[in-house]
Amino acid sequence: MNRKEYEALVETVRQHDVAYYVDAAPTLSDREYDTLYRQLVEFEEAHPDWVLADSPTCKVGGQALSHFEQVQHVVPMLSLDNTYSRNELRAFVERVVKGLGGQRPVFTVDPKVDGVAVSIRYEEGKLVHGVTRGDGSTGDNITENLRTLKQLPTVLKGAPAVLEVRGEVFMSHAGFQQMNRQREARGESLFANARNATAGTLKLLDSRQVAKRPLSIVLYGTGEVSAGQIESQTALRECFQSLQLPVSDWFREVNNENDLDEAISELDRLRQTLPYPTDGAVIKVNEFALREGLGFTSKAPRWAIAYKFEAEQVETRLKEVTLQVGRTGIVTPVAELEPVQVSGTTVSRATLHNFKEIARKDIREGDWVVIEKAGEIIPAVISVRTDSRTGKEKKILAPIQCPACEAKLVQENVFLRCLDPACSEQVRRALQHFAHRGAMDIDGLGQAMVDQLVDHDLVRRVDDLYELEVSAVQSLERMGEKSARNLINGIEVSKTRPLWKLIFGLGIPHVGSGLARQLEQSFPSLDGLAAASVEELEAIDDVGGIVATSIHDFFNANKHQELIEALRGHGLNFKSETFGKEEVPATGVITGKKFVITGTLSESRDVFKEKILQLGGKVSGSISKQTDYLLAGESAGSKLDKAEKLGVKILTEAEFEKLAQYER
Ligand code: IVH
Repeated sequence: MNRKEYEALVETVRQHDVAYYVDAAPTLSDREYDTLYRQLVEFEEAHPDWVLADSPTCKVGGQALSHFEQVQHVVPMLSLDNTYSRNELRAFVERVVKGLGGQRPVFTVDPKVDGVAVSIRYEEGKLVHGVTRGDGSTGDNITENLRTLKQLPTVLKGAPAVLEVRGEVFMSHAGFQQMNRQREARGESLFANARNATAGTLKLLDSRQVAKRPLSIVLYGTGEVSAGQIESQTALRECFQSLQLPVSDWFREVNNENDLDEAISELDRLRQTLPYPTDGAVIKVNEFALREGLGFTSKAPRWAIAYKFEAEQVETRLKEVTLQVGRTGIVTPVAELEPVQVSGTTVSRATLHNFKEIARKDIREGDWVVIEKAGEIIPAVISVRTDSRTGKEKKILAPIQCPACEAKLVQENVFLRCLDPACSEQVRRALQHFAHRGAMDIDGLGQAMVDQLVDHDLVRRVDDLYELEVSAVQSLERMGEKSARNLINGIEVSKTRPLWKLIFGLGIPHVGSGLARQLEQSFPSLDGLAAASVEELEAIDDVGGIVATSIHDFFNANKHQELIEALRGHGLNFKSETFGKEEVPATGVITGKKFVITGTLSESRDVFKEKILQLGGKVSGSISKQTDYLLAGESAGSKLDKAEKLGVKILTEAEFEKLAQYER
């Protein structure tokens, strides 16, 4: 291949990428495409000095970064005012008309994509950088990560000299679920929802990892544009389309309020069929010249508003209630539902939290129930349609015995707990937790492997892992000698993990990964931690009475002392590498996040505070821009207003429980 042929091949593959990823209309079979692509890769490997920066192969990611540079937005990235009410929407239209001196403008309606906002700058048609919104005036330079998006061209033909395009990076429902299934199979932690997964992925410093995640992008606006040729939202969309930049499939221009109402209803009806998650409609004045006259408030334009859709609720029948035994022996009731579609996915199970909750909502087997799924994976049963009862519904009784080992259950607060340490379900969950990516990270020890080890009675306690032999593992289903050796090797390697991973892996109630890191910094060894008094533990930042007692009790129970001696015997690392050093805790859904609690909740605020702390979050008394979440109970007052003003995310108790359950 000569230089010209190479360039032609780059262009051909690029055109097929556009056909496949942007237009969703492939012009080649997958096989033909793969052949072309492989040709390109092989040629570039042989001629590394010829590789064009915008070759489609460059979408697999490059060198990892140590941090993200900060970039200032030339045109600030503002947010939008939003409303859930059609009356407020009408008031918005009236404000606009008044602002325009009585003129009724054309409005546009497009989907509000629930992703992560970014701004991408092209100069002379070349992608120069891509930046997160950040605080609106300065964001992170995530160019390398954005370059991996198949939908996003790195070169534009016939674009203005400077063109900044803005839009939302997202994960499709299908892509998100497939990724989570793969993560589950590998024993990695799951993302709570597609938005978190997108935000987490864009923060990765290694773009090769980003390239493996199913990210997409849709564009709806501009930042700086050198020539002022674009005059309206409609023209902007057409301009993007001609440049092969991805825009939403659905878009409407409306001339009056009737059409506006109808467009919004239509979008609400069909939004589940769109490839991206949407939580509303964005209504904008079409003509840019008119927008100028209207201007901005301090945080949002006066010419646009987001109309948010209510979280989708559907009714279905609760067939029966099954029981799930957790790692610490807590028995959770689960609703088995007649499968229904909610927010784009089929739901057949929902958590019922605990038996007090079932009694409070008077949920019965056979009931028609209302379920809701607001972005998060785990749907919740909101209420019961008592008016649909036939009299055949069955009351749900709390079990007396553990469904796995038949030990007598004990009531602890709202929970029922099995205290038998040999309970097979607990052993299973304890092993899964010990081995998973966030804890001891044992390669090859996913859920299916754990099941086999427990079912064949090869492991009854975590330390039994370290006595496993290749021959025994090899005799299990679907295991050859090679995979058996790999597993034993993975187990061996885990002996050298940092202390916090072991502390976390032990599964001490109330100790999440963030707190485990803090404990490692506070004690020189596992023995130091095990010997700590409740007072010493309480002296650690963020450790309250409940958590301190839980840690103390854990290490003072005979069964745990035996376990720890056995692990010591196998040579696991008990020594801290970070004792006395300051370390930034990892961030997760709750880990590292700042919470404020307000209003009346089902239990005292201290109980919620403990929960947040044990999951590695922080709790403060007052709301500021730094606050990540306001946990708001009934009759929340001024804090709620302030959180709304500052755009702090507000969680109801149920939403919080969903998040917390996820992180546990
Ligand atoms: S237009 C000046 N259009 O939602 C801001 N924004 O909650 C104009 N968003 O900040 C933004 N879909 O990040 C616009 N079709 C859409 C959108 C959209 C999602 C985001 C955007 C905005 C946020 C407000």
